[in-house]
Amino acid sequence: MPDAKGRAAGLDLMRQHALIAGEPVTSETRIAVDDPATGQIIGHVPDLGAADTERAIQAAHDAFPAWSRSDPHKRAAFLRDWARLIDDNAEGLGALMALENGKPFEEARGEVAYANSFIKWFAGEAERLIGETQDSPLGHVILTFREAVGPCAFITPWNFPAAMLTRKLGPALAAGCTAVVKPASQTPFTAIALAELAYQAGLPKGVLSVVTGDAATIGGVLTASPLIRKLSFTGSTPVGRLLAEQCAPTLKRVSMELGGAAPLIVFADADLDLAVAETIRGKFRNSGQTCVCPNRVYVERSVADAYARKLAEAVAQIPVGGAFEPGVKVGPLIEDKAVRKVQDHLALTRAAGGEVLTGGEPHALGGRFFQPTVTLGGDDALFRREETFGPLIPVFAFDSEDEVLDKANDSEFGLASYVFTRDLDRAMHIGRRIEAGMCGVNTGIISTAVAPFGGVKQSGYGREGSIHGIDEYVDIKQVTLALR
Ligand code: SIN
Repeated sequence: MPDAKGRAAGLDLMRQHALIAGEPVTSETRIAVDDPATGQIIGHVPDLGAADTERAIQAAHDAFPAWSRSDPHKRAAFLRDWARLIDDNAEGLGALMALENGKPFEEARGEVAYANSFIKWFAGEAERLIGETQDSPLGHVILTFREAVGPCAFITPWNFPAAMLTRKLGPALAAGCTAVVKPASQTPFTAIALAELAYQAGLPKGVLSVVTGDAATIGGVLTASPLIRKLSFTGSTPVGRLLAEQCAPTLKRVSMELGGAAPLIVFADADLDLAVAETIRGKFRNSGQTCVCPNRVYVERSVADAYARKLAEAVAQIPVGGAFEPGVKVGPLIEDKAVRKVQDHLALTRAAGGEVLTGGEPHALGGRFFQPTVTLGGDDALFRREETFGPLIPVFAFDSEDEVLDKANDSEFGLASYVFTRDLDRAMHIGRRIEAGMCGVNTGIISTAVAPFGGVKQSGYGREGSIHGIDEYVDIKQVTLALR
């Protein structure tokens, strides 16, 4: 889509208000949202505070009894109507997301489809909220029901403005929960547009609100409120930890999808061309800004040089540019500080003896663009501790399976991991031993609505997507019947 057409399609769906109980809300002070490619302001959202957040919570509370008791088949029908509207508006939503996030339009359009796959999947799950019957040793019959946990709060990130929202809202609405969403201040427009479409699809007023403003203020009110029964957060580990602490006094249920430092392991018996292609596919989604991106690549020493040089050759060809330029695969980073982090990680790698095989500099486009970069050697310890969240692939050689497994697991994080080998037994050994919630074997892509997504250790807890995703939004109720 050419630039002017893309901008127009995106701006067409942009609403510069928040939504409380389905009604537009503005404020005197506003937050500017920029296009990361140019730094130019594309619009503003209200800077709402505690009072408006409380109003949204009250609306979710008031709407909960009717929505949670509604026929799950009707909720499924609503989700399907919403999904149809999202499909109808996919180009505009993709363009809007590309504008506020900077990801290439084709990728943003792909994210709209990915986001919608959660709504479609959980429409089916609403129809399968199945309970059990059981004979009790006390001579009774026990019935179990899966009941909505209550009003939920969702704090969603800027890297997947649509998919991280629908991965939470899909199961929550299917289960009968109501919700207050706080989208990231860098990318609020996609969330507002999706919520507008939900109301166009017939969502009852009050079931969903989107509040924009200062994250600490709104997060503080959402977590403190006794009316909110569940928080789901996607973002950094330190913020997740803080939110979990804030939820403790009211004993909310909490799901945390936090940081990662994903290892990608390539054994000498792997198909190296496949490993290179899949490393690139996994790493450069959202310009290297995903929590499942390979953060550190370990390659068996006998093929490390060959792999790294093939990788560098391919990475050097990746087209970088603005979201609406044809063929672009990597866009700008979200903020200036994201560029500085890549530079810091590169400087430390160079200082530790790492060699830059391609890239290594800010891109000629300037601003927040950085060259896709591959390094070989240096110290992997930094990359076990911290995710770069940018277009840098550090490659390290290893000598044995035990050594690489130790290195892979020597991290406080445990979200995604990847292994490339033709040996099924080895793949299973690594897949089972690796301390991560997810492991891709001979693939760099592990995310789909039908797979459980989530981490272990400091990468969080709870699972999104799959047949397990709805469990985060239901409580098991038992009714015991004393029958003759
Ligand atoms: C994330 O980076 O938070 C999620 C990425 C995904 O869904 O694959």
